[in-house]
Amino acid sequence: MILKDKVAIVTGSGRGLGKAIALALAKEGAKLVLMSRTEKELRSVIKETGLPESRVAIMAGDISKESDARRISELALSRFGTVDILVNNAGVIGPIAPTKEVKPGDWINNINVNIIGTFLCTRMLLPVMIGKRHGKIINIAGSGEKPLPNFSAYASSKSAVIRFTETLAQEVEEYGIDVNAVAPGGISTKMTEEIFESVKPLDKNDTEKYRKVLKSGGVPLEVPASLVVFLASEESNGVSGKILSAVHDDWKNFGKKKGELKETDMYTMRRISPDLLERLRLKKEVK
Ligand SMILES: NC(=O)c1ccc[n+]([C@@H]2O[C@H](COP(=O)([O-])OP(=O)(O)OC[C@H]3O[C@@H](n4cnc5c(N)ncnc54)[C@H](OP(=O)(O)O)[C@@H]3O)[C@@H](O)[C@H]2O)c1
Repeated sequence: MILKDKVAIVTGSGRGLGKAIALALAKEGAKLVLMSRTEKELRSVIKETGLPESRVAIMAGDISKESDARRISELALSRFGTVDILVNNAGVIGPIAPTKEVKPGDWINNINVNIIGTFLCTRMLLPVMIGKRHGKIINIAGSGEKPLPNFSAYASSKSAVIRFTETLAQEVEEYGIDVNAVAPGGISTKMTEEIFESVKPLDKNDTEKYRKVLKSGGVPLEVPASLVVFLASEESNGVSGKILSAVHDDWKNFGKKKGELKETDMYTMRRISPDLLERLRLKKEVK
C-alpha cells in the first residue's frame, strides 16, 4: 500500500471520476474525506470503499462557496488531524452553447465551480501543507490545451486550472508541495451524458465524438485514477507543475526522469520546449 494512512480530500467524489479516485486511494491505504453536493451519493461511495467510519468522512457542500471550502478543510483536520493529499476533482461542464447565446449567470457559475472552487479548497489547505512541509495537490483539468467551440466557459475554466497549477507549483516548491494537473481523457460519466444530450443541436462531429465515448465506455476510469494515485504518492516526489495526460503521457516512468522533467516545458500548458523549437527550425532549414 503506497498511501498507507495518508489523509486525502477528494472533491466531487459522489460519482464518476471522483468516485473512482476515492476507491483507488482507499485501496492504497488512504483515509478519505469525500465531498459533493449530493450526500446520498457520498454515502453509497463509503459503502463501496469498504472503509470503516473511522477512516472516512463525508460532507455535502458546494466548492464554489468559501464557507464550504473552509468547512471541508476543518472537517479533515478535526477528524484526522492533518491533510496530505487534495484532489480538486469537482467540476461542471455547462453551459454548452455558442458564447453569443449563453446566459452570463451560467457562464459565471462554471468559472465559480471549476477554477474558483479549485482555488478555494487549495487556499484553505495550503497552510496545513506548508506547516508540514509536504503535500500533494492534484487538479483535474482536461480540455485546456485547445479551443473548444460551444464550451467556452469549460475550456476557459480548465485552462485557468492548468495555469493555476503551474503557478502554484512554483510558489510552493520550497515547502516540498507538489502540484499537478491531470487530463483524464474521454471518460464515460454523467458529465459525458450531459454533453451528448446538449450537443445534438450543435456540431455533428461533437455528437459523434461523445456518442463513441458513451458507446465504448471511453477511457476506463481506473486509468486517470491510477495517475492520481501516482501523483499522490512518494514515488512522484519532485514531479510538479505539470499537466499530464492519463492516456498519452509516459507518466509511469516519470519517477526515473525527475531532473529531466524539471528542465522542460513539455507537460506544461505550452508543451513547446526551446529544444523542440530548435529542432523544428533545423528541420525547416534542411528542407
Ligand atoms: N467526463 C469527461 O469526459 C471528462 C474529461 C476531462 C475532464 N473531466 C473532469 O473530471 C472531473 C470529474 O468529472 P466527471 O466526468 O466524473 O463528472 P460527473 O460524473 O458529473 O461528476 C462530477 C462530480 O462533481 C460534483 N460537483 C459538481 N459541482 C460541484 C460543486 N459545486 N461542489 C461540490 N461538488 C460538485 C458532482 O456532485 P454533485 O452534483 O452532487 O455536487 C459529482 O460528484 C471534472 O473536473 C471534469 O471536468 C471529465
